[in-house]
Amino acid sequence: DYQSASEIVIFGALGDLSRRKLLPALYQLDLVGLLNPESRIVAVARQEMDAKELTEFVVENLTSFVKEGLDKETLARFTARLVYQQLDFKEGKAYAKLADILADGHSTRVYYFSTPPAIYGDISDGLKAAKLITDKDRVVMEKPIGHCLESSKVINDQVSRHFNENQIYRIDHYLGKETVLNLLVLRFANSLLTNNWDRNSIDHIQITVAESVGIEGRWGFYDDAGQMRDMVQNHLLQILSLLAMEPPADLSAESIRAEKLKAVKALKPIDRTNVKDKTVRGQYADGFLNGSPVPGYLNEEGANKSSRTETFVAIKAEIDNWRWKGVPFYLRTGKRMPAKHSEIVVHFKEQPHNIFKDSYADLPANKLTIRLQPDEGVELQMMNKIPGIANQMNIHENKLDLSFSETYDNQRVVDAYERLMLEVINGNQSLFVSRDEVEAAWTWADSIIDAWQATNEAPKPYAAGSWGPVASISLIARDDRQWVE
Ligand code: BG6
Repeated sequence: DYQSASEIVIFGALGDLSRRKLLPALYQLDLVGLLNPESRIVAVARQEMDAKELTEFVVENLTSFVKEGLDKETLARFTARLVYQQLDFKEGKAYAKLADILADGHSTRVYYFSTPPAIYGDISDGLKAAKLITDKDRVVMEKPIGHCLESSKVINDQVSRHFNENQIYRIDHYLGKETVLNLLVLRFANSLLTNNWDRNSIDHIQITVAESVGIEGRWGFYDDAGQMRDMVQNHLLQILSLLAMEPPADLSAESIRAEKLKAVKALKPIDRTNVKDKTVRGQYADGFLNGSPVPGYLNEEGANKSSRTETFVAIKAEIDNWRWKGVPFYLRTGKRMPAKHSEIVVHFKEQPHNIFKDSYADLPANKLTIRLQPDEGVELQMMNKIPGIANQMNIHENKLDLSFSETYDNQRVVDAYERLMLEVINGNQSLFVSRDEVEAAWTWADSIIDAWQATNEAPKPYAAGSWGPVASISLIARDDRQWVE
């Protein structure tokens, strides 16, 4: 059951994102029969390339990045869809060349901007001038949209000159992750959780997005952004808003995005007056990962030795509304941590009274752990009696564990980009970020970044391969709590 044919036009088709994610995602859709037989993939980039070279390039990258191996028939079908167009993105007149290729106008065009955001405006202008935008066409924009609120407005304004908001798909690939999407199901399809999802039942929530990779050769980009702009402003705030939002009336883009927006807007501002109590910035130093030495951030290739960019952030976020008053959300994310490990831990409140003191002095509170990646799953820690007669009430903490790979028979975890590509083709904006959300997220993040700049403190060093600076442990320990590891 296909949507009508589309022309998927990737600007920056030879770049990293396209090689690693976009082309493999489109291949996977083709493999399972979700690409219309008539759909084409138009690769656009600056360099000269002929059709044969493009095919070679695509096959080579699919071979590297499609883990499961390639299916011959699909590969033949897929490569037959490819078209190449050389283009200098800033040269307005050159877009006429694209018009020749995209002439027919029957198909929906999906323009994927996989280029630096500074040229999203030029591309939009070029497309408009070449009469390549109709109401049914769509544009996909990669993050980061801007460097701060003001620059994000400039970019959004440039693109909005020629595309309406309902044609603009702002990607945050975390929204395409199976486990992130599952947050909606956990919260709104289970009355047990729905009815205990507030300050009366929950003590606090921890969100950890740890990566073991460093900056992967992206010094130029990363040093300018840092972990706050690269991860917190988007991925972590998206997770937070799905956890914190009020129930949307339905799954429409309008409902979901409106509720997420309200949650982000209700975040208590962090500014110069409280930034030291509520945040920690870190930067990895030389250390070890899996027994091998890894260089610190300042010793990465191309590094500016005096950089003060943070590669780790911990934040005590608070949401000023009825549901969440007094329930902190502790966020932490960093590069070069011991493992790729992302999870949410919801700590419920303790029992008011313990009748099992003889066997368990301090009854632990229930915890719901949502494992985002890897080893996707959900587990609920709870108390249970150890069977046996010797001790009448021998109890311990155990867990109900729903491991996705076991439960769903090792079914392949769909990559976020596959789902998001399909949603764009299908014209559903629910899993994309609205302009208002981007701006609310920048407003909150900018205030923290400004406060950091004002205090002018260097980020706290942490050894590569550790869980971040000691100060991040103190951040939560001050509230008599600790990170779950
Ligand atoms: C990207 C960031 O948006 O997300 C990268 O720019 C980061 O720095 C990546 O490594 C993490 O994504 P994932 O899907 O591997 O968790």
